[in-house]
Amino acid sequence: MRPNIAIDGPAGAGKSSVARGLAQRLGYTYIDTGAMYRAVAYRALQAGLDVNTDPEAIAELAGRLRFEFREVDGARHLFVDGEDVEGPIRTREVGNLSSPVSAIPGVRRHLVAAQQRMARNGGCVMEGRDIGTVVLPDAKVKVFLTASAAVRARRRQLQLAQRGIHRSLEEILRDQKERDERDSNRSIAPLRQADDAVLIDTDNMTEDQVIEAIIALVRKVTGDAQGA
Ligand code: DC
Repeated sequence: MRPNIAIDGPAGAGKSSVARGLAQRLGYTYIDTGAMYRAVAYRALQAGLDVNTDPEAIAELAGRLRFEFREVDGARHLFVDGEDVEGPIRTREVGNLSSPVSAIPGVRRHLVAAQQRMARNGGCVMEGRDIGTVVLPDAKVKVFLTASAAVRARRRQLQLAQRGIHRSLEEILRDQKERDERDSNRSIAPLRQADDAVLIDTDNMTEDQVIEAIIALVRKVTGDAQGA
């Protein structure tokens, strides 16, 4: 069976582009678990549910959603109950709401179970905050990506600009700081490097260099020169 690869780290450390590129190189399936938490936030917003007063209803909603990643024009999009939610889940409002939503224990229970089902046949590159610690504690390859706050904010700004969204560095830094603190300090499945994860600081590395470093780790566990 092909190994699963767990990639964790804070927002903007380069997880998404690295995980996507890595999956492409290896012919593995890329799973963006943050998109799933965003989708729950989006659906909760649509249903008029409040994260402070309706956590149980939001958890119940999360348990009813059917998640599926599909290829659309060469990009991976998340579909929820057959609806392509890639656009709405990337808005600032949904992004900010996804952090408190992801701290609801019942939401995590449902999403972790769905993620474990997706990875049960191996060959997944799964990216998030708790993949190496909670979702796939037995993953053969675990990586924790970091970068300085300034570099992460700058990357995020460029990423948004590519989608035609222009935001100031100050605003991005503010959102990022708030989200990092909440994700790292929550009592359930906080952002934390697994004891057996390899730490990669991406500040002075290109995306390709990071991908190569992870492929070297994959080769070590598969003993295969192709890395797959
Ligand atoms: O990576 P992202 O910004 O798309 O994640 C959205 C939110 O979901 C973020 O606040 C962290 C949270 N998250 C989580 O708690 N666990 C994961 N495995 C992935 C994301």
